[in-house]
Amino acid sequence: MNQVTAVKLTGGDGDEAIAVRQIGPTFGAEITGMPIHGDVSPELLTQFIAALHRYRVLIVPGLDLDPGDLVAFSRRFGPLEIHARFQNTLPKHREVFCVGNVERDGMTASFSRGVEQWHADSSYRAKPSDASLFYAEIVPDEGGDTMFADATAAWRALDPETRRRIDGLQAVHSLETLRLWGERHNPDRKSDVSAQNAEFPPIRQPLVRAHPATGAKSLYLCPAVISHIEDLGPNESADLIETLIMHTTQARFVYNHRWRKGDLVMWDNSAVLHTATLFDHTRYQRLMYRTTIAGNAPALAD
Ligand SMILES: [Fe+2]
Repeated sequence: MNQVTAVKLTGGDGDEAIAVRQIGPTFGAEITGMPIHGDVSPELLTQFIAALHRYRVLIVPGLDLDPGDLVAFSRRFGPLEIHARFQNTLPKHREVFCVGNVERDGMTASFSRGVEQWHADSSYRAKPSDASLFYAEIVPDEGGDTMFADATAAWRALDPETRRRIDGLQAVHSLETLRLWGERHNPDRKSDVSAQNAEFPPIRQPLVRAHPATGAKSLYLCPAVISHIEDLGPNESADLIETLIMHTTQARFVYNHRWRKGDLVMWDNSAVLHTATLFDHTRYQRLMYRTTIAGNAPALAD
């Protein structure tokens, strides 16, 4: 069910406003009237952030951005992360992490044959990312979509007994777990991540995460990154993650974004999960630029 409700979010004096049109089942909105280049008034920025917190995924279509533009806009939301896989960042803009199957100008985009699991970005950091921005530079004719799951609506839809049982559980997120998962799905891609593992040791994150700004709870599920849930046996831990990810990724909680060149999508890592669909990498090119807003606080449950 796609909603077409358009609302105007007005600022302090009511003169400037962005327009918001919800496009996903429970979340996701297309934004018009938001300047991405150059100056942005504090009022518009406040509206944009309010829309992000309310809709969790924002789409700004029809842009023509270079990496510097993306970095400048992204910095309005806070300091940016430098991705742990340095080789996939742009030499001139280390804040830009490249995803796809393109190599150019000293950069090799991060390519995993499109095989990905549902996740929120940088959950292996003690302070995980607040939000990510993804810009479509080269889009394949088919495939390479990004799917988003509304982990906030999914939490709210759980029965009270399940909520009581899982609220307060701690999951251990580990880059090493992710590396092993990646090797199983991409046997030809071996990477030396010993330095990364030293910088990012396994870290506990709440399974039910409270949003750092709104306090809204959501399911913080990254099956390829979570090694186990504390206080549960290995089978019980794996079963619980499987049950919760199946619940969260039902069609009623999912929005699939079919990219057009020039789309900018910003999502709230504290509220949604995402993953990619496959594309034919032997026929098509894909290049996406990502910036990642650093987290301001550890993802502690309240
Ligand atoms: Fe991601």
